[in-house]
Amino acid sequence: MIIVALIAKAYRSKFLPTPSDVYNHFRPLPYPTKDCTGMTVIVTGANTGIGREAARHFVRLNAARVILGCRNTTKGEAAKTSIETSTGRPDVVEVWQVDLGSFASVREFCRRADARLDRLDVLLENAGVAVLPHRPLEGHNEEITVNVISTMLMGLLLLPVLRRTAMRFNTVPHLTFVASGGHYYTDLEEVRDAASIFDELRRDRDMKSRYMVSKMLLLLAVRQLATETNTSGKPQVVINMLNPGFCRTELWRNTPAAFRWIVDLVGLTARSSEMGSRTLFSAAVAGEETHGRYMSNCVLSDESPWARSPQGYEVQGRVSAELKAIVDGVDPGVSNNI
Ligand SMILES: NC(=O)c1ccc[n+]([C@@H]2O[C@H](COP(=O)([O-])OP(=O)(O)OC[C@H]3O[C@@H](n4cnc5c(N)ncnc54)[C@H](OP(=O)(O)O)[C@@H]3O)[C@@H](O)[C@H]2O)c1
Repeated sequence: MIIVALIAKAYRSKFLPTPSDVYNHFRPLPYPTKDCTGMTVIVTGANTGIGREAARHFVRLNAARVILGCRNTTKGEAAKTSIETSTGRPDVVEVWQVDLGSFASVREFCRRADARLDRLDVLLENAGVAVLPHRPLEGHNEEITVNVISTMLMGLLLLPVLRRTAMRFNTVPHLTFVASGGHYYTDLEEVRDAASIFDELRRDRDMKSRYMVSKMLLLLAVRQLATETNTSGKPQVVINMLNPGFCRTELWRNTPAAFRWIVDLVGLTARSSEMGSRTLFSAAVAGEETHGRYMSNCVLSDESPWARSPQGYEVQGRVSAELKAIVDGVDPGVSNNI
């Protein structure tokens, strides 16, 4: 009886997938066909998983230049070879080193992109981690540093390059973030009333994973960024985000073995990396109506009820303000790029 009540409560609060979520998960997604001739694309975390498969689609669909942003260039070169072999297109893929666990590395990567790219049509921010127990990195928890702070830092540093491209080539470039349906599983209850949300997250009170929290923070920050950059009603750069769904990848490799076994078991029903990558591609070439929006199953979708609640929007303002202060501390004035 208690279990039934708990499951009913979880469904009511949308903390469990609905039958339609489950149905959609098993539906094949549209295979990417949009031509990308002439485009320059950056995909972070592209040496494996859904990032590598998304990069493969861009190369297959005639992009001129596809940069794999990888922290390990040996793994990046292996991905490059795999993509070149399967697409038969040499001289398109480049491997550039970037470690989102280091703010200096993110800044260096963005400086290089600013100096060397005559255009940037898509910045697909895919790199992400799930870590348990916590590992501190750059003064925060690794998931917060990589999935939120460095990801936003890179977006802000490269926004001028995307805008420059829009003006020079009369196009609408995309700044696309890989979010997660995992954000449904948190309402930031443990930190939302704190004086500083990011300071509160530095505490290792209960050793719970910060992964879902990091994806909620990213979602709120992206939504705010999109609002602030679209003052004219027509975005110069489309800023959107997507949920790839549950995919069989290496994402959970930094968690305890018992946890991984459960994920692997449930993962028998998960999407392949290639199927999941279609959600990345579709968002990265989607129309202006997706600006500031969340996509799932390759179509516009709703964020969690909490993210859409008045409290969600109130917390969004605070998350964004704190995040701006953090990235300005790393790269003074970078938030002025908004
Ligand atoms: N798989 C899912 O079910 C799922 C569901 C929802 C959202 N997502 C999101 O999808 C994105 C891709 O994940 P995935 O499932 O493809 O997992 P994955 O196979 O583990 O790929 C993650 C990628 O991110 C890179 N990365 C991690 N930390 C990095 C850092 N500090 N600097 C640079 N690159 C870093 C990894 O590089 P290394 O190989 O060097 O570690 C790898 O290339 C993530 O943002 C994840 O949160 C995944």
